[in-house]
Amino acid sequence: MFTDMRNGTAGDWAHIAAEHGRHQKSAAARQIMDSLARLKEIEVGFAADQLTHSLMAGTLARRAGASDEEVVAALCHDLGKLFSIPNHGAIAAEMLKPYVREDLYHAIYWHQEFQGRYYFEHLGKDPEGRERFRDEPWYAFAEKLVDEWDAPAFDPSFDVDPLESFEPEVTRVFSNPRAMV
Ligand SMILES: [Fe+2]
Repeated sequence: MFTDMRNGTAGDWAHIAAEHGRHQKSAAARQIMDSLARLKEIEVGFAADQLTHSLMAGTLARRAGASDEEVVAALCHDLGKLFSIPNHGAIAAEMLKPYVREDLYHAIYWHQEFQGRYYFEHLGKDPEGRERFRDEPWYAFAEKLVDEWDAPAFDPSFDVDPLESFEPEVTRVFSNPRAMV
Protein backbone atom coordinates (compact mmCIF):
# COMPACT_ATOMS: atom_id res chain seq x y z
CA MET A 1 0.00 0.00 0.00
CA PHE A 2 1.35 3.37 -0.96
CA THR A 3 2.47 5.95 1.57
CA ASP A 4 2.37 8.68 -1.05
CA MET A 5 -0.76 8.86 -3.24
CA ARG A 6 1.36 9.79 -6.21
CA ASN A 7 2.71 6.22 -6.18
CA GLY A 8 -0.62 4.32 -6.02
CA THR A 9 -1.10 1.11 -8.03
CA ALA A 10 -4.23 -0.54 -9.41
CA GLY A 11 -3.99 -3.07 -6.58
CA ASP A 12 -3.82 -0.34 -3.96
CA TRP A 13 -6.92 1.29 -5.36
CA ALA A 14 -8.90 -1.94 -5.64
CA HIS A 15 -8.22 -2.56 -1.93
CA ILE A 16 -9.09 1.04 -0.98
CA ALA A 17 -12.33 0.95 -2.97
CA ALA A 18 -13.37 -2.33 -1.32
CA GLU A 19 -12.59 -0.97 2.16
CA HIS A 20 -14.53 2.23 1.49
CA GLY A 21 -17.52 0.18 0.37
CA ARG A 22 -17.34 -1.99 3.47
CA HIS A 23 -17.09 1.03 5.76
CA GLN A 24 -19.93 2.77 3.97
CA LYS A 25 -22.27 -0.17 4.45
CA SER A 26 -21.47 -0.60 8.14
CA ALA A 27 -20.92 2.93 9.39
CA ALA A 28 -23.02 5.51 7.60
CA ALA A 29 -26.40 4.52 9.03
CA ARG A 30 -24.94 4.31 12.53
CA GLN A 31 -23.43 7.78 12.22
CA ILE A 32 -26.77 9.18 11.09
CA MET A 33 -28.61 7.57 14.00
CA ASP A 34 -26.02 8.92 16.46
CA SER A 35 -26.26 12.38 14.88
CA LEU A 36 -30.05 12.37 15.12
CA ALA A 37 -29.77 11.53 18.83
CA ARG A 38 -27.53 14.57 19.35
CA LEU A 39 -30.27 16.85 18.01
CA LYS A 40 -31.79 16.44 21.49
CA GLU A 41 -29.18 18.94 22.71
CA ILE A 42 -30.38 21.65 20.34
CA GLU A 43 -33.09 23.78 21.85
CA VAL A 44 -33.31 26.95 19.84
CA GLY A 45 -36.46 28.58 21.14
CA PHE A 46 -39.12 26.26 19.76
CA ALA A 47 -41.60 24.41 21.98
CA ALA A 48 -39.99 21.15 20.88
CA ASP A 49 -36.25 20.36 20.84
CA GLN A 50 -34.74 19.48 17.48
CA LEU A 51 -34.84 15.71 18.05
CA THR A 52 -38.54 15.82 18.92
CA HIS A 53 -39.15 18.03 15.89
CA SER A 54 -37.29 15.64 13.60
CA LEU A 55 -39.02 12.57 15.03
CA MET A 56 -42.41 14.22 14.62
CA ALA A 57 -41.64 15.14 10.99
CA GLY A 58 -40.51 11.57 10.33
CA THR A 59 -43.54 10.15 12.11
CA LEU A 60 -45.93 12.32 10.10
CA ALA A 61 -44.24 11.20 6.87
CA ARG A 62 -44.38 7.57 7.92
CA ARG A 63 -48.06 7.77 8.88
CA ALA A 64 -48.80 9.42 5.53
CA GLY A 65 -47.47 6.31 3.79
CA ALA A 66 -44.23 7.93 2.58
CA SER A 67 -41.43 5.83 1.08
CA ASP A 68 -38.25 5.01 3.00
CA GLU A 69 -36.40 7.85 1.26
CA GLU A 70 -39.15 10.33 2.05
CA VAL A 71 -39.36 9.29 5.70
CA VAL A 72 -35.58 9.66 6.00
CA ALA A 73 -35.74 13.04 4.27
CA ALA A 74 -38.32 14.24 6.79
CA LEU A 75 -36.34 12.77 9.69
CA CYS A 76 -33.00 14.23 8.60
CA HIS A 77 -33.95 17.56 7.00
CA ASP A 78 -32.58 19.56 9.96
CA LEU A 79 -29.47 17.45 10.68
CA GLY A 80 -27.32 20.30 9.40
CA LYS A 81 -28.17 22.25 12.54
CA LEU A 82 -25.57 20.15 14.34
CA PHE A 83 -22.96 22.14 12.44
CA SER A 84 -24.47 25.42 11.29
CA ILE A 85 -27.84 27.10 11.54
CA PRO A 86 -27.52 29.47 8.54
CA ASN A 87 -26.87 26.77 5.95
CA HIS A 88 -28.34 23.76 7.72
CA GLY A 89 -30.59 22.93 4.76
CA ALA A 90 -27.66 22.76 2.37
CA ILE A 91 -25.62 20.62 4.78
CA ALA A 92 -28.45 18.11 5.33
CA ALA A 93 -29.18 18.02 1.60
CA GLU A 94 -25.56 17.20 0.77
CA MET A 95 -25.46 14.51 3.46
CA LEU A 96 -28.44 12.80 1.85
CA LYS A 97 -27.61 13.49 -1.79
CA PRO A 98 -25.96 10.16 -2.68
CA TYR A 99 -28.88 8.18 -1.27
CA VAL A 100 -32.11 9.90 -2.26
CA ARG A 101 -34.06 11.02 -5.31
CA GLU A 102 -33.02 14.34 -6.78
CA ASP A 103 -36.29 16.03 -5.86
CA LEU A 104 -35.73 15.14 -2.21
CA TYR A 105 -32.27 16.68 -2.33
CA HIS A 106 -33.59 19.99 -3.65
CA ALA A 107 -36.52 20.00 -1.24
CA ILE A 108 -34.21 19.60 1.75
CA TYR A 109 -31.77 22.16 0.38
CA TRP A 110 -34.47 24.81 0.06
CA HIS A 111 -36.83 23.81 2.88
CA GLN A 112 -36.22 26.98 4.86
CA GLU A 113 -37.25 29.12 1.91
CA PHE A 114 -40.50 27.18 1.71
CA GLN A 115 -40.99 27.41 5.48
CA GLY A 116 -40.68 31.17 5.17
CA ARG A 117 -44.38 31.30 4.32
CA TYR A 118 -45.02 30.86 8.02
CA TYR A 119 -42.57 33.32 9.54
CA PHE A 120 -40.51 35.41 7.10
CA GLU A 121 -42.97 38.29 7.45
CA HIS A 122 -41.80 38.58 11.06
CA LEU A 123 -38.17 38.86 9.95
CA GLY A 124 -38.60 41.36 7.12
CA LYS A 125 -38.14 38.74 4.40
CA ASP A 126 -40.42 37.60 1.57
CA PRO A 127 -42.78 34.89 2.86
CA GLU A 128 -43.48 33.69 -0.65
CA GLY A 129 -39.87 33.18 -1.69
CA ARG A 130 -40.83 29.63 -2.59
CA GLU A 131 -42.70 30.95 -5.61
CA ARG A 132 -39.52 31.41 -7.61
CA PHE A 133 -39.25 27.62 -7.63
CA ARG A 134 -42.81 27.06 -8.81
CA ASP A 135 -41.76 25.51 -12.13
CA GLU A 136 -39.12 23.19 -10.68
CA PRO A 137 -39.83 19.45 -10.86
CA TRP A 138 -39.12 19.16 -7.13
CA TYR A 139 -41.57 21.89 -6.05
CA ALA A 140 -44.40 19.47 -5.21
CA PHE A 141 -42.30 17.36 -2.89
CA ALA A 142 -40.83 20.45 -1.22
CA GLU A 143 -44.35 21.64 -0.45
CA LYS A 144 -45.29 18.26 0.99
CA LEU A 145 -42.13 18.07 3.09
CA VAL A 146 -42.54 21.54 4.53
CA ASP A 147 -46.31 22.05 4.70
CA GLU A 148 -47.34 18.57 5.84
CA TRP A 149 -44.38 17.20 7.79
CA ASP A 150 -41.96 19.98 8.84
CA ALA A 151 -44.10 23.02 9.69
CA PRO A 152 -46.62 21.10 11.85
CA ALA A 153 -43.86 19.27 13.77
CA PHE A 154 -43.29 21.50 16.80
CA ASP A 155 -45.65 19.84 19.30
CA PRO A 156 -43.75 18.40 22.29
CA SER A 157 -46.85 16.45 23.37
CA PHE A 158 -47.23 14.64 20.03
CA ASP A 159 -46.84 10.87 20.31
CA VAL A 160 -43.72 10.52 18.13
CA ASP A 161 -42.33 7.19 17.05
CA PRO A 162 -39.06 6.59 18.95
CA LEU A 163 -35.72 7.21 17.27
CA GLU A 164 -34.83 3.48 17.30
CA SER A 165 -37.95 2.70 15.28
CA PHE A 166 -36.47 4.60 12.34
CA GLU A 167 -33.30 2.52 12.25
CA PRO A 168 -34.62 0.13 9.54
CA GLU A 169 -35.43 2.99 7.14
CA VAL A 170 -32.19 4.82 7.94
CA THR A 171 -30.18 1.63 7.43
CA ARG A 172 -31.87 0.76 4.14
CA VAL A 173 -31.37 4.25 2.72
CA PHE A 174 -27.84 4.92 3.97
CA SER A 175 -26.52 1.45 3.07
CA ASN A 176 -27.28 1.93 -0.58
CA PRO A 177 -25.61 4.98 -2.05
CA ARG A 178 -26.47 5.60 -5.67
CA ALA A 179 -22.85 6.60 -6.19
CA MET A 180 -19.72 6.41 -4.02
CA VAL A 181 -18.33 9.71 -5.27
FE1 LIG B 1 -37.58 21.45 10.35
